[in-house]
Amino acid sequence: MSSYLEIEKLSLEIICSEKSVNNKMLLLCSLLDKKLSHYNWTGFYLADVENKLLHLGPYIGEATDHTIIPFGKGICGQAAETNKTFLVDDVNAESNYISCNINVKSEIVVPIIKEGVVLGQIDIDSNTIAAFKEQDQLLLETICKALAPYII
Ligand code: SME
Repeated sequence: MSSYLEIEKLSLEIICSEKSVNNKMLLLCSLLDKKLSHYNWTGFYLADVENKLLHLGPYIGEATDHTIIPFGKGICGQAAETNKTFLVDDVNAESNYISCNINVKSEIVVPIIKEGVVLGQIDIDSNTIAAFKEQDQLLLETICKALAPYII
């Protein structure tokens, strides 16, 4: 398995490439899914700030019914409202949680912010309890910060 530093380097190469932003997001999902075995669903949601909605973007993992999530609803919607990373060790202990798959045990959502406005987020589910550590948060926050300028 690659180190987090190597994964960060590969992620930044994808982000700085000439590809479309959609392609970059899909390649990032694919990279993270392949390199980190505790990432069991990896995807992006993109924000419609005016209507306070999140729309499902590129992802790797099982199809989800939750293609549109209102701000404030679930882990994703709460991260969109607070503009802060939301790390959940045990999703079953959360009352404001939207379940996509009964196997999911923990989740991390990192918002993508440009000039104080939420543009979207990366959302990772794990089938392991408390799967996400500080190194995951730092990696995902680096990715979201680097990706933000490319999102229109
Ligand atoms: N669990 C999320 C919903 C999105 S799925 O994980 C893909 C939530 O509570 O917002």
